[in-house]
Amino acid sequence: MHSVSYYQEKVSHHFSQIVAHKEPKNLYEPIQYILSLGGKRMRPVLTLMATEVFNVACEKAIPAATAIEVFHNFSLIHDDIMDDAPLRRGHQTVHEKWDLNTGILSGDAMLILAYQFFENYKPETFQKLAKLFSKTALEVCEGQQYDVDFELRNDVTIPEYLKMIEYKTAVLVGAAMKMGAIVAETSDENANLIYDFGLNLGLAFQLQDDYLDAFGNPETFGKQVGGDIIENKKTYLYLKAMQFADGETQQLLAHLFASQPTDSQEKIATVTGIFNASGASEATQKAIQEYTFKAFETLEKMDISPDKKVILKAFGESLMGRNV
Ligand code: IPE
Ligand code: IPE
Ligand code: MG
Ligand code: MG
Ligand code: MG
Repeated sequence: MHSVSYYQEKVSHHFSQIVAHKEPKNLYEPIQYILSLGGKRMRPVLTLMATEVFNVACEKAIPAATAIEVFHNFSLIHDDIMDDAPLRRGHQTVHEKWDLNTGILSGDAMLILAYQFFENYKPETFQKLAKLFSKTALEVCEGQQYDVDFELRNDVTIPEYLKMIEYKTAVLVGAAMKMGAIVAETSDENANLIYDFGLNLGLAFQLQDDYLDAFGNPETFGKQVGGDIIENKKTYLYLKAMQFADGETQQLLAHLFASQPTDSQEKIATVTGIFNASGASEATQKAIQEYTFKAFETLEKMDISPDKKVILKAFGESLMGRNV
């Protein structure tokens, strides 16, 4: 196996050429734009790593890894429309830079493009990859729908929230890893275990995404800090604050999350203050650790060499320390 930066380099190289110079420009330029803004490339890196975990050269997994990352970027374009987000990876979101219709259609095209990458595999592998991908993509849509439904609800529970983030985020991380296992043609048992590893890492990842959305550094975060608070997202932070706070604070929080603020900076300051004072921030940090450790437990069940476990664990640990 190689270092994470090696895999990152491998995948980045491919994204620059996917739709370069294709016409019509208004369809392909936004695709080129979002892909060129980079991001962490976590999912394709995980696909390549998973392939090598099962002793097959990562080059074989490049089309599958590309499919996953193109799909992820598609979901970001549409997510930013749904979340009314102005910033992505430190730059204007696609619907802000162009317009809503451009974001919709370029996103649609990316979903198709993602599928096309599976055509590089032999029929048996193609079928397995496409089947997993369709299931996962549909779950992402379901998770995204729950996420927006929850904006208007004031009775969301923690189990409901966990299901929502499992669907909108964690299943894709699990699938990214399972695709590596499929490409490597390892046993179903191994493929399912690495899926579970990715799933738990994905839950920790979304919890941390929620945390950073409230507490990230605006200079480096790359997204609008406080965006979830403005949009009344029922995050783990919010749900734990509701659970821990006294009656008066609960009422204030419920009131703040039932409307669109006239002064969003004031709302963000009040809400983040409550998140900290109530113990919700601490509880979120704890949950991030718990899901990461749960992922590590799955790793122990896997029949792979100890040096590979060390690399996968190091990756999970590095995610916990991230600030973007
Ligand atoms: C953002 O994903 C969307 C979530 C599921 C939280 P990433 O944080 O992986 O975004 P990039 O690709 O690195 O920009
Ligand atoms: C995103 O969740 C999940 C998907 C894109 C499917 P968020 O809405 O929290 O992601 P960010 O914070 O905008 O990246
Ligand atoms: Mg969003
Ligand atoms: Mg969203
Ligand atoms: Mg977020």
